[in-house]
Amino acid sequence: MLTSQEVTNYDFLREEYTDEQRQAWTLLNQKQRIMIQEQASASYLECYDALQLDSEEIILVENLNERLRAHTDWQTVKVPGLVPTPEFFQLLSQKKYPITVAVRGIHEIEYSELPDKFHDIHGHVPMLIRQDFGDFVEQFSQLGLQYLDNPEALMGLERFYWYTFEMGLIKEQNDLRCYGGALITSKQEMENAREEQVQKFPFSVDKMVNTDRVIDHLQEHYFVTDSLAELFDCLPRLESSLNRFTFAAPLQ
Ligand SMILES: [Fe+2]
Repeated sequence: MLTSQEVTNYDFLREEYTDEQRQAWTLLNQKQRIMIQEQASASYLECYDALQLDSEEIILVENLNERLRAHTDWQTVKVPGLVPTPEFFQLLSQKKYPITVAVRGIHEIEYSELPDKFHDIHGHVPMLIRQDFGDFVEQFSQLGLQYLDNPEALMGLERFYWYTFEMGLIKEQNDLRCYGGALITSKQEMENAREEQVQKFPFSVDKMVNTDRVIDHLQEHYFVTDSLAELFDCLPRLESSLNRFTFAAPLQ
């Protein structure tokens, strides 16, 4: 297992932005505040309001951390982009969520191939202020740390992450709402998810672990949870599914 000393410290990264990046953020924020009212889950919206994320100006990590302190012991840390899997799990296990410093350009308003600051902050941070959701993310990361030497299990964890934290849908009062970060920060993806002909599978950890994911175009299927409790309770099932998927015991 990695120690905290082995997690790279990116405090030196500067949050300095061009006029184009500032404009892109403002535009994204304006679209976001409308989209989420119509399509995000009620739990997400509560957290979004509590953190006052409706900001026309680019949010700085220290400022975000100050807001987080009022609600949770989770914090965020600056990173240059996608974090290697071991570091990602290690950070989450320390209740630190990595935030990409870069902000997408105007030409990527509708879709940004790589995660950017807007995606990370708006897509992944809000629900962390819920004690139950924060605990779930921490427990998920601890599970991940057990499988670092098992590539097949890591693939299963990646798929689970994708179909929940990124593309997760939840049933709320006979409506489908989004809680996954990639859905919440993409208008196209949110609209796609609401299309009737796009397949919605009931929440199934076994099926998620065994279903390939596509990352370069709109999803052809999503998984729908009946409640957040169903999500929070699924980790033992995920662990046994990973073991069956890989036919191997986790490495300690
Ligand atoms: Fe993401």
